[in-house]
Amino acid sequence: IGNTIFALEEIDSTNEYAKKIAKNNKTGTVVTSNLQTSGKGRRGRGFVSEYGGLYFSIILKPNVSIDKIPFLTQLSACSVYKAMEELKISTKIKWPNDIILNDKKLCGILCEMSCEMDYVSYVVAGIGINIANVEFDEDLQKIATTLEKEGHYINKLDLFWRILRHFDYFYKKFEKDDYNEMIDILRKNSSILGKKISVISLDQTRNATALDIDEKGFLKVQYENGETEHLNYGEISIRNV
Ligand code: BTN
Repeated sequence: IGNTIFALEEIDSTNEYAKKIAKNNKTGTVVTSNLQTSGKGRRGRGFVSEYGGLYFSIILKPNVSIDKIPFLTQLSACSVYKAMEELKISTKIKWPNDIILNDKKLCGILCEMSCEMDYVSYVVAGIGINIANVEFDEDLQKIATTLEKEGHYINKLDLFWRILRHFDYFYKKFEKDDYNEMIDILRKNSSILGKKISVISLDQTRNATALDIDEKGFLKVQYENGETEHLNYGEISIRNV
């Protein structure tokens, strides 16, 4: 991971750029940009990407079946978590794709995949971390934060290398189907396990309790009527209640 890095000054979205060059570049190629003019979040939302943050996308060509691809979001979360831990910054992982610092969102992850029939041609794992002290609008201020707002002044490049190193380590495990260490990190540092949450799918919102993260990285929830379900990340969104 990171043998080839495209370091850009400004781009619409590193995920979009990575998707354009994915076919002609090797697995592990990284695209990063100092500024994104049209950063993408999940569910068609944007991601504020001003100067001072760390925005990058990793092109991956994993040799695994499609049902394992959603786990790459968890793998990305574990990599960011470990890098922060090394820098003595204690974060929580909000399944499936956010990193939380002092109850606010610090980092978002967006994995996108391209497949032909049942064959995964590539995945782009996009990670965005708020570092410098940008001015969020009023709504965002309540839910998002930056490292500097929380009193952490770090070197962006140093953080970037650390994340890539952990990503490389976890990706090798992922290819061998060895999820144990990652599941352990996801469980121990989850911001939602044991809590009441809302499970928001396309057609409904249901209240539930987040019970566990299972051995495949799915979230096990229990609804108010006692029913349990193991959620794969794609279709749903989680809100703390
Ligand atoms: C989310 O919070 O919904 C996901 C945000 C993902 C943001 C990152 S920044 C790098 C990469 N490029 C994008 O356009 N999005 C991802």
